[in-house]
This record gives sequence, structure tokens and C-alpha cells, in this order.
Amino acid sequence: MSKKIFSGVQPTGNLHLGNYIGAIKNFVDLQNQKENECIFCVVDLHAITVKQDPHELKKNIRETTATFLASGINSEKSIIFNQSLVPAHCEGSWILGCVARMGWLNRMTQFKEKAGKDKEKASVGLYIYPVLMAADILLYDATHVPVGEDQKQHLELSRDIAQKFNLDFRSNNFLKVPEPLIQKNFSRIMSLKDGKKKMSKSDPSDFSRINMRDEKDIIVNKIKKAKTDTDPMPSDEEHLKKRPEIENLFGIYSSLSNQSLKNTINDFSNKNFSVFKNKLAEVIVGKISPISSEIRKLDKDPEFIDNVLRSGAEKAEKIAKNKVKELKKIVGF
Ligand code: TYM
Repeated sequence: MSKKIFSGVQPTGNLHLGNYIGAIKNFVDLQNQKENECIFCVVDLHAITVKQDPHELKKNIRETTATFLASGINSEKSIIFNQSLVPAHCEGSWILGCVARMGWLNRMTQFKEKAGKDKEKASVGLYIYPVLMAADILLYDATHVPVGEDQKQHLELSRDIAQKFNLDFRSNNFLKVPEPLIQKNFSRIMSLKDGKKKMSKSDPSDFSRINMRDEKDIIVNKIKKAKTDTDPMPSDEEHLKKRPEIENLFGIYSSLSNQSLKNTINDFSNKNFSVFKNKLAEVIVGKISPISSEIRKLDKDPEFIDNVLRSGAEKAEKIAKNKVKELKKIVGF
């Protein structure tokens, strides 16, 4: 069955292995299934929900686009654009914000995490961010949305908003209810320093993550220093249950070598950790280095990147503008 795919990544710098394994790697796989129509968005409107340096933001929009391209997303096969070039996202988001309920937004755990202790000081944008995300998806009639595990709750909200809109306006499934595409395994890559914390751009320690731009020596060093424990190598999946750091490293290895966790455990059950870590670093370098050197090449051609975004935005605009026009009619404008 052909799928309409939509997904987005924030241009906030430091794209890392979690973004790659949880999202971008799957974008490429989905794009390469011929029957799918794919749209990948650099969600710059989402990025400004927390303070951004304007100069850095511009750089990061190009950098995230370069990471898409360097990872194998092809602008001839997929639509690639940045959100702020398509005003329909804001218009659609306002209308959907009048359908979404405060109670629903109050349950969003990511807001609570990002706003921290002093919620009064968080931006209004950060609070209503999941509504903008719903508009992103619903304006393109996306049937499937590939994301990491941390976006699951936001996707459920998008589904609730679509269903409530259709019901409130008796609009006969005008808004398509999207399906999340979250991988069963490896959809939550954890920090290299603490297996209970998500790998994240905002972690102050650079040793907690592998960045998509990291050079070989840095990757090797980060894996060498990655937290492990003193127990012997696991011999089955049960042995990983209470060992989040080991489970994470085994997950990264399995995902990047396209094999099951079980096979990875079998491959290393009689070896010691230094052997495993050497192999893991090798696999990561094998995947990330070609991507980072391509990103560096693309850095030198900002005009090319801007053209990709502009021509993607033209295609996206046609779809989204039309949907908003219909949306307005249904609402009574
Ligand atoms: P963002 O920019 O935080 O992350 C981009 C994608 O990377 C995934 N991800 C991870 N996956 C596994 N392990 C991790 N440690 C990890 N960290 C990040 C995220 O799940 C995501 O898929 N709100 C979204 C962006 C967005 C969007 C959309 C996504 C805006 N509109 C519409 C889908 C559809 C976000 O902030 O992702």
C-alpha cells in the first residue's frame, strides 16, 4: 500500500545518532520504497519556541537540510523544505488550536520537561507547539509519520485533533487520522553517559552523544568512554533488562548493522567489552563518517541548499495552501 509520509526535524544544531537511528535512517528507507510519497520538513517554526540566535538558526536550517541530503534523502524523490517558507502551517495551526483542548495540552510530558520548574517563563509557543505539529501533518493528508519514541504523545494529540475537527464540523474525514511509524526496537537511543536519559542535543556533555559531524577519532574516543558496567557480557536478552547502558550500546550496534539484538548478543557473548566497543566504534564510523564528510562538502554550497529548500517549499505550498483553503471553508470563513 502506498503511504503518504510526513516528518520533521528541528534545526537546533548538534543532530546526533539518536535523530539518525530514531528518524532520519527510516526516512531514507521509506523514501526508497517507490510507492511512498515523502515530505521531510526542517521545522524552524518549532525551533523558535525556545530562544535562538538568529544567525545560528539560519546556519542550523542549512545544516539540518545538509544532514537530510547527506544521509540519502533525495530532493528529486522527496519534498524537502523548511516550515517557515510555507505560511499555511501557521494558518492551519491557528484553526486547529481552536479545536484542541487545554486539558490535552496540559498532559504533554515534553512541555513539562522542556519548561522545567518555572513554567511561567516558558514561551506560549512551547506550550502550543504540539498543535503546530498537528498542522504540519494534517495539512498534507499524511497517512504515516515516522518518528522516535519521544514524539508518540504528540502524534496521539494530532490524531485526537483530527478526529475532533471531523466530528465538530461533521466533515466526513476531511482530516486524515495519521498512523505513527515508530520502530519496535531502537526507537529511543539513550545517552552514552546515562542509559536512563535520552540522547539529546541539549545535554551539556558532548560525551553523552555522537554528533552527525563528529570525526572518526572523536567517535572512537566517545565510545571508549561510554558508560558500561562490571557484569559479564550478556548471553541473552534477559541479561540486558537491568543494564540500560549495555542495552543501548547493543541497540545502536544492531540498528546500524541491520541485525536483531539477539544476533548481536550471540556475536559477542564470549568476547570482552573492549572487543565489542572496538567493533561498535567501527560500525558507527562506517555509517557516520561518509555522512559527515558529505555534510562538510555541502557546507561550502549554501546556495545549493537554499535552492533545495525553496523548490521543496513551492511543492509543499501547493498542497498545504489548498488544504487550508478547504479548512477555512469548512469552518465558515
Ligand atoms: P526533534 O527535532 O526533537 O527530533 C527529530 C526526530 O529525531 C527523533 N529523536 C530520537 N529518536 C531516538 N532516540 C533519540 N534519543 C532521539 N532524539 C530525537 C525524534 O523522535 C524525531 O522523530 N516535534 C518534533 C519535530 C516535528 C515533527 C512534526 C515530527 C515537528 N512537526 C511533524 C513529525 C511530524 C521534534 O521536535 O523532533
